Amino acid sequence: MHVYRAALLRFTAEAQATYDEDGLLAIAPDATGRQRVVAAGAWRALAPRFAQAPVTHWPGRILAPGFVDMHLHFPQTDVIGSPADGLLPWLENYTYPHEQRFASPAYAAEVARFFIEELLRNGVTTALAFATSHPASVEALFTEAQRRQLRLITGKVLQDRHSPEGLRDDTEQSLIDTEALIQRWHGVDRLGYAITPRFAPTSTPAQLRGAGLLAARDPSVWIQSHVAENRDEVRWAQALFPAARSYLAVYADHGLMRERAVYAHCLHWDGADRALMRETGTAAAVSPTSNLFLGSGFFDYAAAQQAGFRYGLASDVGAGTSFSPFHTMLAAYAVGREGQTKPGLSLSPQQLWWQHTAGAAQALGLEGVVGNLAPGCEGDFVLLNPQATPLLARRTAQARSLDELLWAMIVLGDDRLIEQTVISQAK
Ligand code: GUN
Ligand code: ZN
Repeated sequence: MHVYRAALLRFTAEAQATYDEDGLLAIAPDATGRQRVVAAGAWRALAPRFAQAPVTHWPGRILAPGFVDMHLHFPQTDVIGSPADGLLPWLENYTYPHEQRFASPAYAAEVARFFIEELLRNGVTTALAFATSHPASVEALFTEAQRRQLRLITGKVLQDRHSPEGLRDDTEQSLIDTEALIQRWHGVDRLGYAITPRFAPTSTPAQLRGAGLLAARDPSVWIQSHVAENRDEVRWAQALFPAARSYLAVYADHGLMRERAVYAHCLHWDGADRALMRETGTAAAVSPTSNLFLGSGFFDYAAAQQAGFRYGLASDVGAGTSFSPFHTMLAAYAVGREGQTKPGLSLSPQQLWWQHTAGAAQALGLEGVVGNLAPGCEGDFVLLNPQATPLLARRTAQARSLDELLWAMIVLGDDRLIEQTVISQAK
């Protein structure tokens, strides 16, 4: 048993945060040895219960749930900041050529080490990430995540057409490789497998069908892909699958929409698509810095809230411009203000923070496992230093409410605000 004493931020209901100025977080190993939250709340109320436990006191610091990044690409760490006239030229000119390098296991291992270090520096403790089409890239990322004991979900990219040599895979072999990787990694320690068709235009119907069959075998395995990010991409997908009602429906038609399926972007679609998301329990990964950088468009928050499907925030590195959840939350706010809905929507700081922690965990089917500091959750957390920069210190000192404090951190925060990232360890 170990007790931490600091200010404490956590969620008590959907998008509803509570803040204990003088808080207590008690963490202890469960029967399997995994560190979990035993209690979280006000120091005064809980301290007598833990009088025997050693205490780490962090005055002036804030304990908060580790962030959950619902969608990003580990092999695109070095693609960040490659401007292009939209998604398709960006893929062709920067991303595909770069991803070809991940055929080398040594190269993939070096990038995996850097990538996970960068997640932790930014306070991200759970991620759903793309690898590349090379099985070695999946091995590299799982190996490193296992070494650091991170909760991480990834998968081999499926792309058996409209893809360059060196990235394009073989339909049958790609499914054999996927099945073998599921066997080897899914559910090992804190790792999970995601069946990963890149997007409908780069998979044959046979590959999508095979992916859907694998997804039907085990509902605990995730599915991840992209949809309706860019208008040229939508036209292309519809031309390739003329019988489908919509681009999104291509995935439903191949058995790729269900709980634990996550689609990145979800911009250029309609009400029937939103209803299909809700009915199937599928989640959207909202990636505002990516959509602004590539000029893809704006996620319609008002329509999403009305339709009632699950969604959460994602960096989408390397089309996304930052690993920092603070940058992503700020961009999400700007999109709500200036995006599709007029007049603009003001997302609250508690909503934004929830969408990047407990809300994202719920969308991934990991509610009560990660993304919050409630009893039973795995003991991942971040230690925030609101004095990390002169301006942060000055501004947060003047915050008169929780919302004002959260706003100051969302607007002024970056990796400097994350003083420590603590990952739940197992004995
Ligand atoms: N659509 C298909 N592949 C990709 C990718 O790597 N990044 C983004 N942003 N969209 C995609
Ligand atoms: Zn992506």
